[in-house]
Amino acid sequence: MRKEGLYMKRMLSGIKPTGRVTLGNYIGAIKPFVSYQDEYEMYIFIANLHSMTIYQKPADLRQNTRDLIALYIAAGLDPEKVTLFLQSDVLEHAQLGWYLGCMVSMGELSRMTQYKDKKAKNEVIGAGIFNYPSLMNADILMYDPDYVPVGEDQKQHVELCRDIAERFNSRYSETFKIPEPLVTKVGGRIMDLQNPTKKMSKSDEIGKGTIYILDDIQVSKKKIKSAVTDSDGHIHYDPENKPGISNLLEIYSILVNRSIADLEKQYDGKGYGEFKNDLAEVLGEELEKIQTRYHEIMSGSYLDDVLEKGAQKARIIARKKLAKVERKIGITIRKR
Ligand code: AMP
Ligand code: TRP
Repeated sequence: MRKEGLYMKRMLSGIKPTGRVTLGNYIGAIKPFVSYQDEYEMYIFIANLHSMTIYQKPADLRQNTRDLIALYIAAGLDPEKVTLFLQSDVLEHAQLGWYLGCMVSMGELSRMTQYKDKKAKNEVIGAGIFNYPSLMNADILMYDPDYVPVGEDQKQHVELCRDIAERFNSRYSETFKIPEPLVTKVGGRIMDLQNPTKKMSKSDEIGKGTIYILDDIQVSKKKIKSAVTDSDGHIHYDPENKPGISNLLEIYSILVNRSIADLEKQYDGKGYGEFKNDLAEVLGEELEKIQTRYHEIMSGSYLDDVLEKGAQKARIIARKKLAKVERKIGITIRKR
């Protein structure tokens, strides 16, 4: 039973529309969101302003943004339950981001690993990368969420967000709820199929190690069947010594919602070939379902309607919060 509004804890997360959606994204981010939607009041937005920190070809950005939303819905996210919107549709984010950017120190921003990693590569870095956390702080604090589900790499940003919220509250008076990061453990790290000690990522150059949700079904099955394993031939979960088969076991377990131990038992004494064939079938069926729904969603104006409704709902909260902030900090001078 879905609990009703007042009693539900609020959850918020943003996803960048960069690159094509992978099986790692699906298992590590999309599926968990779908499972949270009955339990939490959810706000999910496409962080298209954040994606601008790295150059995006306009046509790719448009396509990736539409694909991402359509895939979330196709995977089961229900726009009637979840507020889905584009970050750029709610102008208040950027404005609050400016105020919060004035409250964070250069030192704090310099300590963020995302920035440090980019800097270490000695490339020219846009100022957006450096200021990235201030906009993210605004995204979060605007909606007073209890929880912010993120990948491990984003936890540091949510921790900075807590510090800034506390700073604001103590400087001006209680304004923002202090959010908790929620790091996905199960399926939080799906590995590359060709190099199972490396995380499956969008930027897989050859493309054989990464499954894309919109991959041709036969191609995706082939990728599973040619996944790198080991020569010991025993289907057993041991990420350290048997990273390939452990990764496949993890994927299988999540897709069929059965424990790894249970699968180990079922495949005891059986070969990798049989195991991979079965997993390829399971994955193929799942992708086919998602893709069918994706094509339906993409064909009409449904997506635009969802985004319009989502933006309207988000704007009501954002306007109120920004007005409150601007009154507190002395920006608002009109009496009414
Ligand atoms: P990214 O594709 O890096 O922008 O990540 C978007 C979301 O998908 C984040 O929540 C990540 O934690 C999740 N994600 C990305 N790659 C993987 C992966 N290989 N395994 C599990 N989750 C992933
Ligand atoms: N920085 C996040 C990422 O790279 C995306 C993001 C932007 C986000 N704003 C957010 C996530 C607010 C959670 C909450 O994945």
